[in-house]
Amino acid sequence: MPGDLAVGIHDLSIATTRYVLTHETLAARNGTDIAKYHEGIGQRSMSVPAVDEDIVTMAAAAAAPIIDRHGAEGIRTLFFATESSVDQSKAAGVHVQALLGLPSAVRVVELKQACYAGTAALQSAVGLIHRDPAQRVLVIAADVSKYELDSPGEATQGAAAVAMLVSADPALVRLENPSGVFTADVMDFWRPNYRTTALVEGRDSISAYLRAVEGAWTDYTEQGGRKVNDFDAFCYHQPFTKMARKAHRHLLAFCGYDADDSEISRALRHTTAYNTLVGNSYTVSMYLGLASLLDNAGELSDKAIAFFSYGSGSVAEFFGGTVVPGYRAHLRSGAHRDAISRRVPIDYARYREIHEYEFPDDGGDYPVPIENDGPYRLTGLFGHKRVYETRPARSRNG
Ligand code: HMG
Repeated sequence: MPGDLAVGIHDLSIATTRYVLTHETLAARNGTDIAKYHEGIGQRSMSVPAVDEDIVTMAAAAAAPIIDRHGAEGIRTLFFATESSVDQSKAAGVHVQALLGLPSAVRVVELKQACYAGTAALQSAVGLIHRDPAQRVLVIAADVSKYELDSPGEATQGAAAVAMLVSADPALVRLENPSGVFTADVMDFWRPNYRTTALVEGRDSISAYLRAVEGAWTDYTEQGGRKVNDFDAFCYHQPFTKMARKAHRHLLAFCGYDADDSEISRALRHTTAYNTLVGNSYTVSMYLGLASLLDNAGELSDKAIAFFSYGSGSVAEFFGGTVVPGYRAHLRSGAHRDAISRRVPIDYARYREIHEYEFPDDGGDYPVPIENDGPYRLTGLFGHKRVYETRPARSRNG
């Protein structure tokens, strides 16, 4: 394996949903003090998919601008990470391959390990490119986070997709060796096949996350990684943005530093700007944090970024990356901000209707109304098959 080959994220594009529910709306309905949502968990609003949106339509919307800019040449692998699968057998990425018009000479696979799977996809892509640096890998993560109505987890829902083109000589972020990895068999958060909403041991899941920070960091240092002070910014998995603050404080304490609030804010504030508005997007969350950092921070050329990816159950990974000089010319900051700001606010009644909406499982034909105005939509379920379409006037967020 060529040791000095730079491999990493060449392009990155995000998409989210048509609708948004503000935490003010939720708090007004359930009587929660809004400060608990805004300060206590660090969330302001959450993305809610329209009935004709799902992980496939969001994923295609995120990836289309990448194909528009770079073409499909050299893309021989599409990894799709999700824990909101639309089928137990077929990879959601195969629908995306068709919607994007990618060539047939491509392998498409879906990966799952809760919120960690996006990182599994990214690291697998890096390995493939080391094997053949002429290839590029399209990594897509997409998820819809759904908890039971009126449960504590409800305030931490959200939905989004991220698409990343991974290549040699990348334009945005060079990914580094080593990685620190950690696995522990815990039941902190899970979703049995017969449920549409996740089950969670809320406070235990926070402790499990923090133990994984320690475990992955310990392995990272044992593998010869950087010192904690070498990093200029930290991208954590963000089920809610306050979790990133807890994690960073915990990591610094574990490394022997007593950080004050301002130091934590300085390290994290740009990585939390999008997540506080989108909510938990599971596999996407840490990469939404990266998009937010690149789009909103000042000049980051040659700066080192730390990544901590966590997926309940649990698997975690700590790794570093360096921002490539000239990266700003390749960002999609305007399109990203637009994807978040153009969401249409809905009231609690509409949110509840969408939350409770489910296709019957009798094999009938169930078209869904046109709601989303994005480039791709789910037209319905017909004889047990989900059918997607590209809108005639495709408005990609190039
Ligand atoms: P809860 O019981 O609603 O809230 O559950 P709480 O009572 O624990 O309060 C939350 C925070 O708000 C606390 O702060 C309170 O003090 C504060 P903390 O002590 O934690 O720093 N608070 C207030 N602050 C200001 N003004 C007020 C006020 N009232 C309270 N008036 C919980 C919160 C996060 C547990 C819940 O939302 C939940 O179960 N969420 C889902 C699970 C989750 O996100 N876990 C995170 C780690 S696991 C993970 O990241 C993986 C995951 O993404 C899944 C995957 O991997 O696929 C979830």
